[in-house]
Amino acid sequence: MIRLKTLGLAAVLAAAIALPAAAQHSHETKTPERQSWSFAGPFGTFDRAQLQRGFRVFREVCSNCHSAKLVSFRNLAQPGGPEFSEAQVKALSAEYKVQDGPGEDGKMFERPGRPADRFPSPYANPEAAKATLGAVPPDMSVLAKARSYSRGFPLFLVDPFIQYQEHGPDYIYSLLALGYTDDKDPNANVYFPGGHIAMAKPLSDGQVEYTDGSPETVQQYTRDVTAFLMWIAEPKLEERKKTGFKVMAFLLLFAGLLYFTKKRVWAGAH
Ligand code: HEC
Repeated sequence: MIRLKTLGLAAVLAAAIALPAAAQHSHETKTPERQSWSFAGPFGTFDRAQLQRGFRVFREVCSNCHSAKLVSFRNLAQPGGPEFSEAQVKALSAEYKVQDGPGEDGKMFERPGRPADRFPSPYANPEAAKATLGAVPPDMSVLAKARSYSRGFPLFLVDPFIQYQEHGPDYIYSLLALGYTDDKDPNANVYFPGGHIAMAKPLSDGQVEYTDGSPETVQQYTRDVTAFLMWIAEPKLEERKKTGFKVMAFLLLFAGLLYFTKKRVWAGAH
């Protein structure tokens, strides 16, 4: 009798575990693969050289379609980011034409960019982008933090404890470096919800020149640009993690002090 009950329970449990898995398989979208990132974990920091390469990929490839409206050129020189020099940022911004005005004649005019300018958008408005590309390319300012995916039960309960916060970067990496697997359909992507994305594979090997000897491969480009997107989405990530650590250290110390204080105060009180 007991054995029957146990068996029944085991069957119900097995079904409960198998059912969601089966439901996932009938769907075309795959779960992104977890990557290791320098900025993960409580002591995570960005790799400056990687952010600089990532910016190069963003600038030469992605920014032809995607905007990053919250990013100013001068941010590229700030601590915690790619940390280009002030002179580099000045030279870089001057390569862009920025609309300004109106001038004294009441007309808008173009001038060379300055470090305080926002990164120029490739399209005047989303409608214009859609008319050309078939869909609106999302602004990249916060994309790496805005995109996530469901890890399902029980992993979503575990994630806060293992400090897993890189769902967005893992999704972007999987989408770009692993998702275009169909040779016949350039818009098929196994990581994009629905399996079909208006953006055809944007990167290919050798497309962007690196000067630091890093491999010029789709994998490397994608890692670098994803790290860059994470930084623009959370420019104060390093500061946040450092503060978090200090707070935890303080709380531990304080808890210790309280414990000994309590022991002293209550010593001999019977
Ligand atoms: C030729 C234009 C073009 C280029 C170049 C391009 N994209 Fe896209 N991208 C798009 C469009 C259009 C969409 C919207 C796709 C859709 O909604 O089906 C998109 C969507 C995306 C998405 C969003 C997926 C989502 O979940 O909404 C990501 C991430 C992305 N692009 C990353 C990149 C990166 C990184 C680069 C540079 C390596 C890049 N793109 C280059 C046009 C482009």
